[in-house]
Amino acid sequence: MKVMAINASPRTQGESRSELLLKHLVNGMEKAKAEVDVVNLREYEVKFCQGCFSCWTKTPGTCIFKDDMSRILFPQWQEADIVVYSSPLYYRGLASKLQAFVERTLPSLKPDLISDGDRTHHPARIKSPDFVVLSVAGFPDLKEFDLLSDWSKTNFNGDNSNLLAEIYRPASQVLTQKHFKSAAEVIFKAVRQAGGEIITKRRVSDETMAKITQPLHDKDVIIKTSNLYWQSCIDQDVIPKQFDKKQCPPTPKTVEDMMLLLPMGINKKNAGKTDAIVQFSFGSGTHEDFYLDISNGKVNALKGTSEKPDLTIITPFKLWRDIMTGVSDGTQKFMEGAYTIEGDGDLLIKLFS
Ligand SMILES: Cc1cc2nc3c(=O)[nH]c(=O)nc-3n(C[C@H](O)[C@H](O)[C@H](O)COP(=O)(O)O)c2cc1C
Repeated sequence: MKVMAINASPRTQGESRSELLLKHLVNGMEKAKAEVDVVNLREYEVKFCQGCFSCWTKTPGTCIFKDDMSRILFPQWQEADIVVYSSPLYYRGLASKLQAFVERTLPSLKPDLISDGDRTHHPARIKSPDFVVLSVAGFPDLKEFDLLSDWSKTNFNGDNSNLLAEIYRPASQVLTQKHFKSAAEVIFKAVRQAGGEIITKRRVSDETMAKITQPLHDKDVIIKTSNLYWQSCIDQDVIPKQFDKKQCPPTPKTVEDMMLLLPMGINKKNAGKTDAIVQFSFGSGTHEDFYLDISNGKVNALKGTSEKPDLTIITPFKLWRDIMTGVSDGTQKFMEGAYTIEGDGDLLIKLFS
């Protein structure tokens, strides 16, 4: 079975999350013995359809343009059994280059108008491939894909083609963030599974789909961390690609921000084996103290003072903010006496390394 997998993200160097998911989907398809060709659309010239309808009249089935679309991509599209359209969600739709690609497949249809009740369609001129749509969004709601889904269902279920699957991942930033690594692995595995199911069963099971779309965090947390992320980029005068390279969390402005971000940065492997209470004492009237309650692999941040902390970190708020965001070196600052600890010092290394 031949699959043409079209990657429409303009982002390169591993920054694209749709490309990342596409790689896993392709991996699953190949394991199921499909022959997959990945096409990075950004490398090809695809002119905009100019609506001349020559492909329906003077040159039936053939576009007047002699660009990469006519010479390479459209012939490949016609030969494929399945075409995967993979795109970032842009304004609730496809990235424009993929939209241009889809429009340039007009020669595959004939001009006749055929009524099918409350809609009208053009019949197919040639055998069309079946389709899969994959997309990722920044917003956390699955509903974000409703327009794309409606559009895809209407356009890709044709005379002789079927929309086999739609794979949508909201809050896609979690896929590339260090602290969501293990949760992201579950999603990648499910996407590989989906790839296999598409080839062997021509559909993706509800169970696999639920794993792909599962929320990894409350919407509220996603929104707050995203807002801190963008503010950190603005404050540091960097674009996301430069910020992500540092693999540091966004900068907390308040104690509440720190309580939100710190649990995400805890060494998950070690936290799983450790039940402990870590108190943060800022020694100022401005910043309220809080503590982390770590038990059964879960980390809760609570305001106030714990009665029996296993470790107390006595530090100015700004210093710990700088340490957690990589601005200051934690070990060096400890040596300098910029902050002190009481209790089990090993916990510091175990949890924050
Ligand atoms: C022009 C533009 C429009 C976008 N529109 C939406 C949108 O409508 N909804 C959304 O949730 N995210 C939107 N985003 C965010 C992207 O979907 C998100 O960054 C995604 O990860 C990009 O895909 P990529 O990583 O594969 O390039 C938009 C981003 C850009 C640059």
